[in-house]
Amino acid sequence: MNPPRAHSLRPSLRRRLLLVLLIPVSVLLLLDALLTYGVALTYANRVHDRDLSDDALTLATMLGNDQLDGELTPQARFLLEYDPDGHSYFTVSSTRHGLLTSNGQLPQPAQVPAIGARPVLYDAQLAKRALRAATVHIAMRSDPGDSLVVTVAETLHDRHRQAREILLLASVTQTLLIIGVLSLVWFGVGRGLRVLDPLTARLAARTDELTPIDGPDVPLEIRPLTHTIDALFGRLRSMLALHDRFIADAAHQLRTPLTGLSLHVEHAMADPRPETVADALVHIRRLTQRAARTSTQLLALTRAQAPSLDAGERRLLDLSRFIPEAVAERVHEAIRAGVDLGYEGTERALPVLGDAASVQDLLDNLIDNAVRYAGRGSTVTVRLQARVDGGASLGVEDNGPGVPPELLPRLSERFFRAAGSNEEGSGLGLAIVQRIAERHHAEVIYRLGEVRGLCVEVRFPAPSSTGRPLPVSG
Ligand SMILES: Nc1ncnc2c1ncn2[C@@H]1O[C@H](COP(=O)(O)OP(=O)(O)OP(=O)(O)O)[C@@H](O)[C@H]1O
Ligand SMILES: [Mg+2]
Repeated sequence: MNPPRAHSLRPSLRRRLLLVLLIPVSVLLLLDALLTYGVALTYANRVHDRDLSDDALTLATMLGNDQLDGELTPQARFLLEYDPDGHSYFTVSSTRHGLLTSNGQLPQPAQVPAIGARPVLYDAQLAKRALRAATVHIAMRSDPGDSLVVTVAETLHDRHRQAREILLLASVTQTLLIIGVLSLVWFGVGRGLRVLDPLTARLAARTDELTPIDGPDVPLEIRPLTHTIDALFGRLRSMLALHDRFIADAAHQLRTPLTGLSLHVEHAMADPRPETVADALVHIRRLTQRAARTSTQLLALTRAQAPSLDAGERRLLDLSRFIPEAVAERVHEAIRAGVDLGYEGTERALPVLGDAASVQDLLDNLIDNAVRYAGRGSTVTVRLQARVDGGASLGVEDNGPGVPPELLPRLSERFFRAAGSNEEGSGLGLAIVQRIAERHHAEVIYRLGEVRGLCVEVRFPAPSSTGRPLPVSG
């Protein structure tokens, strides 16, 4: 992949933060603009309304002082008609002479104010143009029987222009302010991330160290990440320890049969008589079988201990169906070994939360032990029972020689083998059983039979009580 392109596609804290800020800030800016325009227009209206009232009043007062006789003086006419922008309108009428002058059909207010009252302000419309108008009613000085109604109006053009000017000014300053804040965020993120420098330096100085990286210099916000990494490191440490142990065990356990093999081969080569070679071959077969068994069991033990076994393999397993099928598969082998292998179980469903392959391994090891150590002519019974707590009890018992009672607590130890048996074995079977049981939150109990023999019982908990993840055994 092209590196610069990959880099640009990577999530960036800066970009994300800016994006997260930009959208709400833009919406706020828009709302603020609307608000500013509204406020500016209100103030412009207030000022213009006051000017309009004053204009109406000044004009009316001036006209009221004139001697009209149905006609305006040229001076008054000039004042009224002076409108460089074309935004102003007026109407002057007297009660005695009617309409005196006007530059448009200005609508009158709903109610003409009383003589001498404050000017009335109202919205009006003239030739589809919105207007603001002020009407005032005053008595004529020169003719006490007459009164003058003066209306002046203007378009809203100037008011909107002023509001726009204020808005523009405010928008420019606000946009500059926001650009400033966003730039600060952009540079602030860069500076803020420097708090990670000590952690990065510590990690860079490591070669193959997997100790926890959390420390007092880790910022609060990064701690969930360091905790997750530390948990991962923990799992990796136990995996590595497991591998180390596997390699050490394999090297140690396979050395003896391999040395034996080489000795027997040398012996046969040195003395090629048929009986010596045949004898060497018998030993070689026994030693290769032992080496193969040891490596199989070591692998099985490592698998049972590996943390990855947890992932998604647990499901509800009905032991009352699974166990008899697993026992049936071993019957022929038992018959060949001269052992009477039987099953006693219940019809009732006995679900446990577990992994079928592991439970199969567990049962195989128990049956294998019972058949081999109890020996020809013995009886082995696999018993499945429901427990009062809703769990299941899986027992494998035989009527063989058993083990001395003081050795019972040591049976689960790796490579432990009780003395006195001629059977080959690597001493790992019950360690595997123990690990698999632990993964299923089950308990392994060793008992001697009432008369003779050994009974190994595995107590599985009820599925509802094992909602938590299977533990990783080391
Ligand atoms: N049913 C049994 N009767 C008598 N002794 C037993 C029985 N099961 C186990 N043992 C003793 O416990 C020891 C440990 O058993 P375990 O299954 O762990 O190892 P193993 O059978 O020697 O080797 P492998 O790894 O091949 O199973 C055995 O060597 C044997 O001495
Ligand atoms: Mg065994």
